[in-house]
Parts: sequence; structure tokens; C-alpha cells
Amino acid sequence: MSSRRIFRPLLAPLMAMALIGCASLAGAAEAPAPAQAAAQPMAPDTMAARVQGCTACHGVHGEGTDNDYFPRLAGKPADYLYNQLQNFREGRRKYPPMNYLVTYLSDDYLHQIATYFSQQRPPYPQPAKPTVSASTLSKGQQIVLNGDAGRGIPACAACHGANLTGMQPAIPGLVGLHSDYISAQLGAWRAGSRHAIAPDCMQQIATRLTDDDVTSVAAWLSTQTAPANPVPAPAGSRKTPLACGSEPQ
Ligand code: HEC
Ligand code: HEC
Repeated sequence: MSSRRIFRPLLAPLMAMALIGCASLAGAAEAPAPAQAAAQPMAPDTMAARVQGCTACHGVHGEGTDNDYFPRLAGKPADYLYNQLQNFREGRRKYPPMNYLVTYLSDDYLHQIATYFSQQRPPYPQPAKPTVSASTLSKGQQIVLNGDAGRGIPACAACHGANLTGMQPAIPGLVGLHSDYISAQLGAWRAGSRHAIAPDCMQQIATRLTDDDVTSVAAWLSTQTAPANPVPAPAGSRKTPLACGSEPQ
């Protein structure tokens, strides 16, 4: 659709913030006065209207965009997305446009947005073409599927699911993400700028990974084709090898 092209990378954040500003005001207000409603016949307070400010960066259905750092949201468990929106609001994750957008949104509102994106099922992007060596890819595959017991690194699949589509209620899928996004998140945990609810199992795992491990797992994950049925595994279908505050057992 040609209007997508208007959202040039630098313009997108500003336009998006302007849009969400409107959407959040509409959401905060009680039923609009009849005169207002009549003046804005094109802006009903539907979920699609509320998330309009998100779509420039995350895609209309949360499918993500070509930008390497803008993640897919669609199909991730609702409680995972909700935890992240709270993390941005309360500063446990730092990305100024996201921190700003959710500052004044209520828990209830964030929960509704999280549920909306968790229910979206847009197609996955084509997997990335490998840009690293075959040995780097196979090292990544080894860590994701089997971990490295000698270094206390559990298999990523032990929590993120055999198909890497996540596990209810709050572990995200790792398919359909760009390698730069995955590396940036693991880097943020290692640097202490991303935190999850304690005990923060991802912080423990990320700090056991070397730079080379991070490059390998991010590269391998980004080259995987999403499974035909990308739904997260049921809650409790696997016992997580470490305790995670966001995924109660
Ligand atoms: C200016 C671009 C931009 C806009 C607009 C934006 N986001 Fe984001 N969003 C990002 C980026 C970039 C990240 C990853 C930040 C990081 O590195 O932690 C992110 C992360 C997220 C995450 C965490 C995803 C994950 O898998 O951990 C959620 C949930 C989210 N955004 C929801 C929203 C919602 C809901 C809106 C609209 C209210 C929105 N975003 C608007 C850029 C944006
Ligand atoms: C013990 C369980 C567990 C294991 C093992 C695990 N993870 Fe996670 N992972 C989680 C949880 C829980 C979250 C959500 C944390 C939060 O709420 O921010 C998460 C989140 C992530 C995210 C953030 C995704 C996003 O959309 O922002 C990435 C990336 C990630 N894990 C990568 C990995 C990799 C790579 C491995 C293997 C080296 C791994 N994880 C192993 C539990 C685990």
C-alpha cells in the first residue's frame, strides 16, 4: 500500500508519536461529547484506531517492518507484551519513543493493546539470508537447540519452545525477528539496560554468552523459517531450567 511509503524512517517516529498522542487522549476520555463525536466522524475509538500510532514502527498487524531494530509483536503471548509495555513505562527497558508513548497509559489500556497484538496472525517475513559463515550458524543452532551445559547455558528452546514460538503465558517466540534486534536485546541484558521481573533468567543467560555466541544465535535464529502453526506452546508444557519471574511455574 503506497501510504506506507510516507513513513520514511526518520519521519515515522514523529508521526507515530503524534498519532498515539491522539489515540491515547481518545482512550483516556470517557464517552466523547456528542459535538466532539460529530466533529470527528472518521476516528471511532476502536482498537485499530488506538494502535495506529504503533503501526509505523511495528506494522499494521504487528508484523514488524524492514527496520532491523523494530520488532514483530504479532502472536507473542499477551502477558509477555503486557510485561514489556509495563517495563517501558517503568523504565526497566529503555527506548525513548517507547518510554514516552506508554508513560500515561493505564494498566488496563496496556493490557488491551497487548491482547490485540497477541491475537494478530500476519504472515512471517521471509527468513534472512545468512551473512555469516556456516560454522557460525551451526554454533548458533547448537546453543539454541542444546545450550552449553559446561558454561551453564540452557538450550534457548527449553523455554522458548521446541518450535521457538514461545510459551504461554509470557515467553516470546524468537522466530520472525531480525538478527540485529536479537543481538541488541541480548546486549541490553548484558549491559544492564534491559530488565525483566526478578528473578531475571534472561539476564543470567545473556551474561553467560560471549559476543561470538550472541552473533551466532542471532544469525541462526533470523535465518529460520517460521513453523506452519506459529502459536506459543501451552503454559507449563515445559519446566523452565531456570526460574523466571515473568513465567511463574
Ligand atoms: C518510533 C518507533 C516505535 C513506535 C511508534 C512504537 N514502537 Fe514499540 N518498539 C520500538 C522499538 C525500536 C522497540 C525495541 C526497543 C528496544 O530496543 O528495547 C519496541 C518494542 C516494543 C515492544 C516489546 C517487543 C518485544 O518483543 O519485546 C512492545 C510490546 C511494543 N514496542 C509495543 C508498542 C506499542 C503498543 C506501540 C504503540 C502504542 C509502539 N510499540 C510504538 C519502536 C516503536
Ligand atoms: C529459563 C528460560 C529461558 C531460557 C533458557 C532462555 N530464555 Fe530467552 N526469555 C525468557 C523469558 C522469560 C523472556 C521474557 C523476559 C521479559 O519478560 O522481558 C525471554 C526473552 C528473550 C528475548 C527477548 C525477545 C524480544 O522479543 O524482545 C530474547 C531475544 C531471548 N529471550 C533470547 C534467548 C536466547 C538466545 C536464549 C538461549 C541462549 C534464551 N533466550 C534462553 C526465558 C528464557
